[in-house]
Amino acid sequence: MRKRLSSEAEILEFAEQFSILLKPGDCVALSGDLGAGKSIFARAVMRALGVTDVALPSPTYTIIQEYQARDVRIAHMDWYRLEGAEELEAIGVRDYFQTPWICLIEWPQRAPGLLPAASFHVQLECVDGDPDVRLIEVQSPGR
Ligand SMILES: Nc1ncnc2c1ncn2[C@@H]1O[C@H](COP(=O)(O)OP(=O)(O)O)[C@@H](O)[C@H]1O
Ligand SMILES: [Mg+2]
Repeated sequence: MRKRLSSEAEILEFAEQFSILLKPGDCVALSGDLGAGKSIFARAVMRALGVTDVALPSPTYTIIQEYQARDVRIAHMDWYRLEGAEELEAIGVRDYFQTPWICLIEWPQRAPGLLPAASFHVQLECVDGDPDVRLIEVQSPGR
């Protein structure tokens, strides 16, 4: 499904609805250009799932950031600065692709081979001429 979101408030609301679909073991691949809203979306999902950390720092400089949510743990990843899939393997990334974890992954295309086949795919896109509008497309894993 594809939807037009015309403000940051709308993306937060959308993320809240989306988070209801998630359960431990799930993985969400977040694609889109720099500034498209991947991190905002990921943080909104985390909050909706009960993450209360005050800072919720961006994982830009660390590949994986761990959070405790209500009933699950969340691994927020940013693969932007990855050298290659081997680096992820060395960190033990596969351990996160199972319960009790939910993975939210920015720049998944840096190591597409490592992404679980049954991932959600969320694509965010800016729109020319309106800096507050985003197009969002969600593909759910068939299950
Ligand atoms: N409708 C919208 N949805 C998401 N972000 C928006 C929207 N309108 C404006 N923005 C702004 O776009 C930026 C998105 O940043 P961020 O989430 O860090 O992007 P990314 O992680 O994709 O690089 C933020 O500065 C945010 O305030
Ligand atoms: Mg980001």
